[in-house]
Amino acid sequence: MPQNLSPIDKAKYAAAKRAVDYVEDGMKVGLGSGSTAAWMVKVLGEMVREEGLKIMGVATSARTSELARQVGIDVVPLDEARWLDLTIDGADEYDANLNLIKGGGGSLLQEKIVATASDQMIVIADAAKEVETLGAFPLPVEVIPFGWRTTQALIEETLVNLDVLGRSSSLRLNKDAPFVTDEGNHILDLSLRRIGNPRQLSLVLNQIPGVVENGLFLDICDVVVIGHADGSVETRDINQGRVEHSKIDLVESDNLFADIAD
Ligand code: 5RP
Repeated sequence: MPQNLSPIDKAKYAAAKRAVDYVEDGMKVGLGSGSTAAWMVKVLGEMVREEGLKIMGVATSARTSELARQVGIDVVPLDEARWLDLTIDGADEYDANLNLIKGGGGSLLQEKIVATASDQMIVIADAAKEVETLGAFPLPVEVIPFGWRTTQALIEETLVNLDVLGRSSSLRLNKDAPFVTDEGNHILDLSLRRIGNPRQLSLVLNQIPGVVENGLFLDICDVVVIGHADGSVETRDINQGRVEHSKIDLVESDNLFADIAD
């Protein structure tokens, strides 16, 4: 086991390694974005190269698309694949009903479109992402650049009447400039602290002119695969009401780590 892998990376890897068990030959698979999803893409790439797995991948960001191609996955646009068997992605928070906050990496729009176009969405995460109530993680909202300050003011005004604890927001930056998403938009991060009614919040936010999409993923995720640094994994399937425990052999994965660690 390479010494430089942090416990959190081992946990993310364990979740990713378990989640690819859901991928079958011939499937169309949505490929998530972020550091946990990157492990999944690398593991899938290894299965393509070494085991001859045949899949069609649909990436949720330019970054994931580049990585997937690098590791040997056949990547096609969503409009070519049309409907996917499965999407595997990370999350910033998940609750007991597998409602999520996503968009910490800025890819929420493509992630939501791809996940919604899938028969099943599996979230891979470490245990620190589990929350009782969504909202400690700032909620990303993608807004068009035109008049973003006005959109921000409208959002903050609207939040006064909603069941949230905070209502300040900030424009996400990349160094000193506004962060720009793959779709050419900006992100406002909403410090809500606690979201009492995610469904209402999501509906209201998406009605504000200038808002493209928000990072609440409600009733989209079916399964969460939670990895731990010792290789143990818990898989919760909300539809089947099933919880399974398994263990990934991190020592046996040593070669893979050496091949694919950043
Ligand atoms: C990107 C996302 C990511 O899935 C989320 O931020 C989790 O990232 P990580 O796996 O790096 O913790 O939503 O838009």
